[in-house]
Amino acid sequence: MKIKTILAIIAIIILPNTHTMAQNTLAKATKGKFLFGVAVNMQQVNGVNPIESELIAKEFSAIVPENCMKPQPIHPEEKRYEWTDADKVVAFGEKNKLVVTGHCLIWHSQIGRWFFVDSAGKDVAPEVLKERMRQHIHTVVGRYKGRIKGWDVVNEAFEDNGTFRKSKFYQILGKDFIKYAFQFAHEADPKAELYYNDYNVETPAKCEAIVGLVKELKAAGCRIDAVGSQAHWHMDSPTIDAIETSFKNLKAAGVKILITEWDISILPSPYSGANISQNFRYSKEMDPYREAVPDSVQKEWNKRVLDMFGLYLKYNDVVDRVTVWGLTDNGTWLNNFPIRGRKDYPLLFDRNNKRKSVVDEMITMAKKYKSKN
Ligand code: XIL
Repeated sequence: MKIKTILAIIAIIILPNTHTMAQNTLAKATKGKFLFGVAVNMQQVNGVNPIESELIAKEFSAIVPENCMKPQPIHPEEKRYEWTDADKVVAFGEKNKLVVTGHCLIWHSQIGRWFFVDSAGKDVAPEVLKERMRQHIHTVVGRYKGRIKGWDVVNEAFEDNGTFRKSKFYQILGKDFIKYAFQFAHEADPKAELYYNDYNVETPAKCEAIVGLVKELKAAGCRIDAVGSQAHWHMDSPTIDAIETSFKNLKAAGVKILITEWDISILPSPYSGANISQNFRYSKEMDPYREAVPDSVQKEWNKRVLDMFGLYLKYNDVVDRVTVWGLTDNGTWLNNFPIRGRKDYPLLFDRNNKRKSVVDEMITMAKKYKSKN
């Protein structure tokens, strides 16, 4: 055979494959099933590391800001809003054709103390807090009206045992603060989707409380489109069965499900929640993979990813979006939570910005499912 013919044959075999590989992103494989999103930080939005910004634009179909829309950064003082970063995130999403969602309007963490006190430092009266909530929500949601698909309206209002968290909002306004938040958000952008977001949603008592809240909000005539399960998960908990049960319960309550902050910590953990004020002391035993993750552990982690992703696909009639909480293991918040200074490996891209091999398997899996629309 002539050398040219051999080259032509090789080209015919190789070229289509490289082409398909370039096409193979989670965004494409999940298209029509659910959005596949990522939480972004300002370095990425500002293009400080262009490789990361490009990966976000190419591999994902949605973004959410990791911090800059939270109450404290966006509204640090009663009369002062800081729009610069949030504006940039929304523009970055639009430029790259990524769906943008907002996180989060009402939360007990990352919120200025001014929100709850008067000039003498005493708790404000219920009407004052309600009015501050109204102002905050109207101003923030109103600014991005029509440009943000949906908002995490209230974040983490329940304890794991299903009782209300005794946050300042709850102490001053009682449970109605949740209803007010949903009403104000709907007034500010009637077309925006509205979500309740929490961690450990698969804990039965908490799930029951959230289902109860959904029913109450609906009965009160409030818009609620979905429940966001943060999905900050571990190697041994929760079980896939527990996650599936929560999906069934939420589906039966007539809301969509969002996986809003997915990461799977590979490290041992002294705490299975995601309340950011919980902190534990560093020890070497709690940080076992500083050099590398052993193969056997990596395989277990990959299996966790695939088992969970398989479940999202199985329920893709109700799962509308899956968002990972960060791009690379380098930038994950879990390097500092719930213990500072560890090395965790919870995300889909490694410390060299390389896509982990499990992503190819996720793509193959996703392609086997039909689109829902
Ligand atoms: C985390 C961010 O990732 C960190 O950068 C920040 O220091 C603390 O908050 N639940 C949430 C997220 O709803 O907003 C939190 O994000 C993680 C837990």
